[in-house]
Amino acid sequence: MKLGTPLSPSATRVMLLGCGELGKEVAIELQRLGVEVIGVDRYADAPAMQVAHRGHVVTMTDPAALRAVIEAERPHLIVPEIEAIATDELAKIEAEGLATVIPTARAAQLTMNREGIRRLAAEELGLPTSPYAFAGSREALEAGAAAVGYPCFVKPVMSSSGKGQSYVESPADIGAAWDYALSAGRVETALVIVEGRIDFDFEITLLTVRSLGADGQIQTSFCAPVGHRQVKGDYVESWQPQAMSAAALASAQDIAGKVTAALGGRGLFGVELFVKGDQVWFSEVSPRPHDTGLVTLATQHQSEFALHARAILGLPVDVSLREPGASAVIYGGMDAVGVAYEGVAEALSEPGVDLRLFGKPQAFERRRMGVALARAADTDTARANAVAAAGKVKVVRGD
Ligand SMILES: Nc1ncnc2c1ncn2[C@@H]1O[C@H](COP(=O)(O)OP(=O)(O)OP(=O)(O)O)[C@@H](O)[C@H]1O
Ligand SMILES: [Mg+2]
Repeated sequence: MKLGTPLSPSATRVMLLGCGELGKEVAIELQRLGVEVIGVDRYADAPAMQVAHRGHVVTMTDPAALRAVIEAERPHLIVPEIEAIATDELAKIEAEGLATVIPTARAAQLTMNREGIRRLAAEELGLPTSPYAFAGSREALEAGAAAVGYPCFVKPVMSSSGKGQSYVESPADIGAAWDYALSAGRVETALVIVEGRIDFDFEITLLTVRSLGADGQIQTSFCAPVGHRQVKGDYVESWQPQAMSAAALASAQDIAGKVTAALGGRGLFGVELFVKGDQVWFSEVSPRPHDTGLVTLATQHQSEFALHARAILGLPVDVSLREPGASAVIYGGMDAVGVAYEGVAEALSEPGVDLRLFGKPQAFERRRMGVALARAADTDTARANAVAAAGKVKVVRGD
């Protein structure tokens, strides 16, 4: 393993497919190791592009456009940051030996579609999940919901951040859930998953790292569990560590170890799990840093972004927790270009607080524009301070 000098023939080149706030932190970690970073996204000046060596605006769902930018840049590693990518083309590129896809092209293919990852987890690996059915029509959805039972969740198989997702309490709401899923799904496939509701005590993200050990073999390490609160399928607050029973933690690590081993490759994964007492259910997994893991910027010696950067480069990792902490999301609250932020000094005067403002060129009402981070002696204090700090940052018109 050797690292080169960026912008020279020896450079180690990494291409980020998706340049949001999570990619931005990965890019910064790669920059610190002198890696040449190339950002790709569908719009100019995306957060990670602003800290990459250069960027390209590309429609990443277009296989020809995706291949063209990869052939032009010849990255050693391709690091997907989002799901909406022409992953079949990535599989060809990997098979041709053109570049290594992180963690693997197959992992990107399986996790961009809820059907792929759910069948792998529940049917091949036999992991506990919510009861589920797939439906390609309104009638099939009615039958599927009756089979899994009410209340249930209806989700397009290709979507993220709660888009197109409905919580359905009775058969009367099925029609609306079907229409909403179709309107918000990422591609034209009219396929949804209906999942019976798991009545959990809390949900966690178990950040799991597959890295090279000193013996040259892949080793799996687990960060302390991250607890989080979701509103309409989108995370609003997270904290670490989430207290849980020893039996539940062992079960969570067992599930995360199995699902990440099946996806393979090197890198950090965000394994989403539901917990009730000692019982744990697998929900889904991101083969990349997870939004709820932003809290690790405050809590760990190596954040999830540093861990991802190290793992993909074949370097050793340290997943240890430094101190408890929390994160709270700062939303746009308006639709506007080139917004400004007031109250930053006030937010930063909260004890143990730090901020990330992502620098997104355009704000939307529910767009995540920044995050407040807090470290404290316990997660309750950290949560209160993170929420207070996030509330002090006001997004205002820039003109
Ligand atoms: N079967 C279920 N039982 C209980 N709660 C659920 C279930 N499915 C989803 N939820 C709730 O909805 C949230 C979002 O669901 P899910 O993670 O599947 O959607 P997503 O669109 O992929 O979200 P994200 O991309 O933000 O992770 C979950 O974190 C959980 O709070
Ligand atoms: Mg999720």
